[in-house]
Amino acid sequence: MRRAYNVIYVLHLYEAATPNSGLLASFDPGGGKRLKKIRLAIAGLGNCASSLIQGIEYYKHTDEKECIGLMHYDVCGYRAGDIDVVAAFDIDARKVGKDVGQAIFAPPNCTKVFYPEVPRKNVEVKMGPVLDGFAPHMLNYPEDKRFIIADAKPCDVRSELIESRADVLVNYMPVGSEQATRFYAQAALDAGVGFVNCMPVFIASNPEWARKFQEAGVPIVGDDIKSQIGATIVHRALTQLFKDRACVMDRTYQLNIGGNTDFLNMLNRERLKSKKISKTEAVQSILDVPLNDDDIHIGPSDYVPWQKDNKVCFLRMEGRIFGDVPIDLELRLSVEDSPNSGGSSIDAIRICKLAKDRKIGGPLLAISAYTMKHPPVQYPDEMAKEMVDKFILGETGDLENVKACQPQAVTVK
Ligand SMILES: NC(=O)c1ccc[n+]([C@@H]2O[C@H](COP(=O)([O-])OP(=O)(O)OC[C@H]3O[C@@H](n4cnc5c(N)ncnc54)[C@H](O)[C@@H]3O)[C@@H](O)[C@H]2O)c1
Repeated sequence: MRRAYNVIYVLHLYEAATPNSGLLASFDPGGGKRLKKIRLAIAGLGNCASSLIQGIEYYKHTDEKECIGLMHYDVCGYRAGDIDVVAAFDIDARKVGKDVGQAIFAPPNCTKVFYPEVPRKNVEVKMGPVLDGFAPHMLNYPEDKRFIIADAKPCDVRSELIESRADVLVNYMPVGSEQATRFYAQAALDAGVGFVNCMPVFIASNPEWARKFQEAGVPIVGDDIKSQIGATIVHRALTQLFKDRACVMDRTYQLNIGGNTDFLNMLNRERLKSKKISKTEAVQSILDVPLNDDDIHIGPSDYVPWQKDNKVCFLRMEGRIFGDVPIDLELRLSVEDSPNSGGSSIDAIRICKLAKDRKIGGPLLAISAYTMKHPPVQYPDEMAKEMVDKFILGETGDLENVKACQPQAVTVK
């Protein structure tokens, strides 16, 4: 009896002391069968999906003390390993028809394999509608580096979502896939499935789409995933530092190169418009007075095949400090691109499910600001983190999400 009392006491202390972990979690000392599950559907089984799925398996086998790289270990009883993939859509001949557990390792995926023991999932990858998911310039590149369209009839995505009883659909379409992204967003709406939009076609941050999700009572997180320690968050943090230390920033650039299909796809400048807006606004939104267009250049810059999924970012900031004296800062960041997005996606998915459990629909402002480059409302990163922790604890209901349906995107400084 006394022992049971102690356990409850310890659990309460634990919850109060570590807001990032164990939040209202089910007590699971023996690591027994987990009760709460998230049924996930994925559109686009490329490098990001591969890292996400490897991560889900990897974290099934790590306890909190050994666990590296998660921003939240436990979200109201949902751990990373509680996500089950139940449906997947792609268009590539080397992925469609395969089991998800095999398809994530098929070419042209080239990200680092950090957890090769992903088991068969007994979920077959279904053919999606191609729409604008395939950029024609890819045909000029070797097959092992680009997509190959499968000779298969597209499935009925809405029915697949309903039949698989998916809770959340994650969208990993290539940059520039305006039609394909809208197609999957509409399918999620029609099936009543939460939507996490990891790429830069504006859905959560588009007031018209935001209103549709609001009216349907379906939660949405977006747009364009902000990696754990990626170019965007580093550029934002340094811009904030300049501002906090009264240094005027006059000019900046952020040049990115990589060798995966994301970078190959982005060689077509026509497809890049919203990516450039998303990345540039993420930095401009920190400044009290935005830089002139001529003084800021941010975007993917080139495709270097041998780099594979390693991305290199060259960042430069020029400004003036005390006495109007010049300063310049140069930074080089080198990181495996797709695992860098996995931790943000895992938080976005779990909070989207939590919102569903709580019957909250529409754009989720806090988690979107925390994990996405182009959220409906741009909050400072520290504030966004606090808002997410409060949301998890149930201290805010994200009622503010109505704001996101206003005609103008909003920035909070
Ligand atoms: N850190 C990151 O890697 C990061 C960060 C921010 C945003 N993103 C964005 O996330 C998206 C996915 O990135 P990725 O590296 O996984 O890309 P990827 O090129 O590796 O994967 C895209 C996948 O989508 C599939 N596809 C294409 N059209 C389709 C369609 N109509 N239906 C279903 N599947 C289709 C392709 O066959 C491929 O498997 C990109 O838009 C990227 O810019 C990635």
